Amino acid sequence: MGFFKKLLPFALAGVSLQGLAVSVDFPQADIDSGKALKEIGQTALNNALARLDGSSKCTKENVRRRKEWRTLPGEERKAYVKAVECLMEQPNVYENVTGPKIYVWTFEEKLRTLCGYTGAFPYWEWGLDAGGVEKSPLFDGSETSLGSNGAKVNSSNNFFPGGSGGGCVTHGPFVNYTVNFGPNTAKDPLAYNPRCLKRDLNTQICAQWASIKNTTETILESPDIALFQANLQGDFRWPEARKWGFAVHGGGHFSIGKSRVLDRRAGCADI
Ligand SMILES: *[C@@H]1O[C@H](CO)[C@@H](O)[C@H](O)[C@H]1NC(C)=O
Ligand SMILES: *[C@@H]1O[C@H](CO)[C@@H](O)[C@H](O)[C@H]1NC(C)=O
Ligand SMILES: *[C@@H]1O[C@H](CO)[C@@H](O)[C@H](O)[C@H]1NC(C)=O
Ligand SMILES: *[C@@H]1O[C@H](CO)[C@@H](O)[C@H](O)[C@H]1NC(C)=O
Repeated sequence: MGFFKKLLPFALAGVSLQGLAVSVDFPQADIDSGKALKEIGQTALNNALARLDGSSKCTKENVRRRKEWRTLPGEERKAYVKAVECLMEQPNVYENVTGPKIYVWTFEEKLRTLCGYTGAFPYWEWGLDAGGVEKSPLFDGSETSLGSNGAKVNSSNNFFPGGSGGGCVTHGPFVNYTVNFGPNTAKDPLAYNPRCLKRDLNTQICAQWASIKNTTETILESPDIALFQANLQGDFRWPEARKWGFAVHGGGHFSIGKSRVLDRRAGCADI
């Protein structure tokens, strides 16, 4: 067993005095509350920092740490939204669009070099919103959010429980943003296709497939990187992964909207 077997007994040092450190036994309450995930995260951070031995350009001083949205001060959240809006206004850098891929690092870098963003690059811990994505500081429509839910439409179908929105984002940042490109299921996915930004917040999906408990147990039950990937994706080729359903990855996506691919599978035209 690889990575997690090695790090977890370390994470538990001082916590578990059960003698045989064979399996990792976080109390269920700590798994559900997020305490276990915090400890695992802290151990991973310590390990990463310990690996910065001075032999590369990356040092403890200049390494950038990504942070969960709600840990950023309001001013930094607004500065982030402003930088994203600025980046959206930049000219297309792809002369011929042939399935561009914007990698996270590139996106982060462009926010800094083209749009002057100096804060931490945020991420969303969606498990924190399993009690109600509508109340999330990311999507509550306030000026320090990433904009509101979409207008309420019936987005349910026989295959998929719809969320509480589904229409165009109604207020807050990105309210009138025009999505220009895609979707990748369109007849010509590279064509100019202006439309509103839609969102369909879905607490049911978040609570069932992307909770803190789900994320933590996905880590704890994955003895190697292959099964970790499978569990994370709910990859049905691995029998052990099947119970995770949409899984932590898909659960995150579908907590803010379902894709047209799912609609198509279910025989619906569009949302
Ligand atoms: C883009 O497409 C045009 C027309 O097909 C072609 O002439 C040009 O060389 C292409 N540019 C690049 C960078 O591939
Ligand atoms: C929403 O749409 C689905 C699929 O067309 C339909 O079965 C369902 O009855 C609709 N629900 C409401 C509340 O209109
Ligand atoms: C968004 O568009 C609507 C409809 O055109 C308009 O009433 C509203 O003022 C716009 N909001 C912002 C923040 O631009
Ligand atoms: C995911 O977590 C929820 C509660 O947060 C739980 O009800 C559900 O059973 C978990 N899913 C799996 C596959 O363990």
